[in-house]
Amino acid sequence: MYNYQVHQTVDKILRKQQINTSGNNNAFYVRMVSNTPALYQLYQQLYWHHPSAEKNFETLLKIIITSYKQRNEGLRQADETKLQQGYWYLSNKLAGMSLYVDRFAGKLKNMPEKLDYLQHLGINLLHLMPLFESPVNESDGGYAVSNFRKVDKRFGSLEDLQALRQHMHTRGMYLMLDIVLNHTSHHHPWALKAKAGDTTYQDYYYMYPDRQVPDQFEMGMPEIFPESAPGNFTYIPQIDKWVMTAFHNYQWDLNFTNPSVFNAMLENILFYANLGVDVLRIDAPAFIWKKPGTTCQNLPEAHTLLRMIKLCVQIVAPGMALLGEAIVAPDEIIKYFGTGHFTARECDFAYNATHMALQWDMLATGDTRIMLAAQHPLMQKPFGTSWITYTRCHDDIGLGYNDETIAQAGYNPYEHRRFMKDFYSGTYPGSTAKGALFAVNPKTQDARISGTLASLCGLEDALNKQDVQAIDVAIQRMLLMQAHSFFMGGMPMLFYGDEAAYTNDYSYLQDDGKSYDNRWMHRPQINWQKNALTTNPHTPEGKVFAGTRQLLHLRSLLAVVADYSNLTWFTPHNIHVAGYVRAWEKEQLFCVFNFSSQPAWLTWYAFKEKGLLAPKLYNHWNQQTYTVGSDREYLILQPYEFMLLQPVE
Ligand code: GLC
Repeated sequence: MYNYQVHQTVDKILRKQQINTSGNNNAFYVRMVSNTPALYQLYQQLYWHHPSAEKNFETLLKIIITSYKQRNEGLRQADETKLQQGYWYLSNKLAGMSLYVDRFAGKLKNMPEKLDYLQHLGINLLHLMPLFESPVNESDGGYAVSNFRKVDKRFGSLEDLQALRQHMHTRGMYLMLDIVLNHTSHHHPWALKAKAGDTTYQDYYYMYPDRQVPDQFEMGMPEIFPESAPGNFTYIPQIDKWVMTAFHNYQWDLNFTNPSVFNAMLENILFYANLGVDVLRIDAPAFIWKKPGTTCQNLPEAHTLLRMIKLCVQIVAPGMALLGEAIVAPDEIIKYFGTGHFTARECDFAYNATHMALQWDMLATGDTRIMLAAQHPLMQKPFGTSWITYTRCHDDIGLGYNDETIAQAGYNPYEHRRFMKDFYSGTYPGSTAKGALFAVNPKTQDARISGTLASLCGLEDALNKQDVQAIDVAIQRMLLMQAHSFFMGGMPMLFYGDEAAYTNDYSYLQDDGKSYDNRWMHRPQINWQKNALTTNPHTPEGKVFAGTRQLLHLRSLLAVVADYSNLTWFTPHNIHVAGYVRAWEKEQLFCVFNFSSQPAWLTWYAFKEKGLLAPKLYNHWNQQTYTVGSDREYLILQPYEFMLLQPVE
């Protein structure tokens, strides 16, 4: 809504900074003037009572303008191009991979020579896991940042990162980096000053002189790492105070109720935008606002902060998309796309963490009913936003779908979760999975699952036993999982090593900085001799690589799989088969996946009731054409087989 006072303030600051309505700055001027009233409104919701709110708001406007001035011409032009494309990030031509630079290539400098390999696979977006300075043995894989602007020397320098970004953009590739918003390392200068007694910086964190407030918080806050970091507060002896540490005790939670913290972190966000980041992954946004008496997750104020970030980014760097890493319950995840007036105006992407876990559920049970029962909230995703679809990432697999969903599908929630934990940790009779339980909470029996795609799908077990047939089954299971996630809508995000069938790496147990965290078992050290086997079609590496590559290639050719929120689920005529239709304009793609170890029969009526009129279906995966039968006839899918079927005359 237009606000005269805000307009005048903005105008005054813009004039001072010599930005007017003419020439190149026009688009920026318009974005600034039209977005600031909404920004002010949101800002007031959070900070109206704060003594320095007005002063900080002016500082915020100055940060926006300065950051825009620092944005180079090339990036400004790229913004324009992306805006002209409209929703550039929904494209079926995007496919990403997350990787640790040091474990993948050693240094940033070595990355350019690996890009051929990645592009050959079909990857054109790289999520480089945290690169900024982080203490070696207290780093949480880089998510404990001690300097948001300095690349850690183990990766190289900021110049190396900039050079890589340019190189990637020249090749038409996109860059994704993290902003670790919720906390800093206890070695960050703000934390060091706070430890030295500087109260200005103590106010950057949730810090208390005794246990009174911490105890109130603890009543509502769950534990994230109950084994390695129990509790949510850490005692700091130097100053005799308690600081909130929801994750590890070396990660201090930033206090966003202080507007100076918001300004400082926004400056970092815009610094990353000006490095040329295309997608910014906002780490742990569910946690960024805390209030005693709540779980301190998914609070409405956290959404207000994200909306403010979105508006500021839209003004300065409209080509940068935002990904909210909210790994929370399905009804909550969906809110990160924005609600009400802010629908599709908060995060552009969110991880489809629910569906990721549900795929693992289907693979364990061979039953699609829990997955289907959970779809309702996920289908509410607004047009113009997209999922990150994935099977594995650097984190554990949380079984974060609702108990009611499990019950609706006819299972006992407690028993079912126990089955899942036993199945993937390999203790369930007949299970070939080789994973491990992560973050076991003895009080609640909650646990998550670690392990690579290959090991969880049975490849490690099959290789150990040298069972040729089981190796092929495991590979088929891996490709089934990838195919299901690549085609359902959203940008696929592969995890490095999965394309080359890496099984668990147990060497983390020998490293003091990692042994307390079994997520390291699925964060491999790349051995390029092993990766060279990806060119040999007779090896597991070669089979998995070729299959993954073919899937990505097909995806890039089929415009119907771009994420236009155009997915409909099949009616479960056969509970073992998950099926969805992607439809856009005149195109249709029927995707069916048999999650069972037995052949599955699917009535042709399943296709017809979803709008199939054509007499034949062409399977892009195996290049076969099938004649559509009568309603009493069946399409037969072999164990773990999937089909990507396009109607043909
Ligand atoms: C995110 C990261 C995870 C990290 C946590 C704390 O969830 O993905 O790896 O441990 O944030 O920063």
